[in-house]
Amino acid sequence: MGHIDWAYDLARNLLKESLPRRWAHTKGVARRAESLTAILGDQADTLIAAAYLHDIGYAPDLVDTGMHQLDGARYLRDVAHADDTICRLVAHHSCSVNEATQRDLYDLLTGEFDEESPELAQALTYCDMTTGPDGRHLDVTDRLGEIHARYGPDHLVSRSITAATPCILASVRAVEAALSDVRQSRTA
Ligand SMILES: [Fe+2]
Repeated sequence: MGHIDWAYDLARNLLKESLPRRWAHTKGVARRAESLTAILGDQADTLIAAAYLHDIGYAPDLVDTGMHQLDGARYLRDVAHADDTICRLVAHHSCSVNEATQRDLYDLLTGEFDEESPELAQALTYCDMTTGPDGRHLDVTDRLGEIHARYGPDHLVSRSITAATPCILASVRAVEAALSDVRQSRTA
């Protein structure tokens, strides 16, 4: 079984029944990842697999610390035996060090999982932060607004997203610039 098929099956088994909306979001994020093949080349398959797996930490059976990025990455490392790149991408997706700080889990997160290369990490953040909760494409500004509206101003996730916003916007801009470069080189 290929890398992507394995990731799809694992995520579907964990999310589809218990969290159908999260599963719809996940499939949307994976579609965004597929759209980045032109800028990622050989690494695109890894990104697509990580996109399918990035939110498995929300699955009820996996919740431990309550920080879905860390719970998902630990499951991938300890139970699913995923490769290190995918574990690191899931652990740090969408600038999760900010949420780890809010939850007092920064030392655990960074002690257990190194950051992945900026190119891949920013790509996963771009995919997640331009996909709404139902899987449809959203502008990053609308996506950030949707998260704030869903959780409310006092929620830890809203505070984390506020702290992460510069990192998220930088990631989206970096990927958009890379996509623009590819388009220009094709028309040159
Ligand atoms: Fe997500």
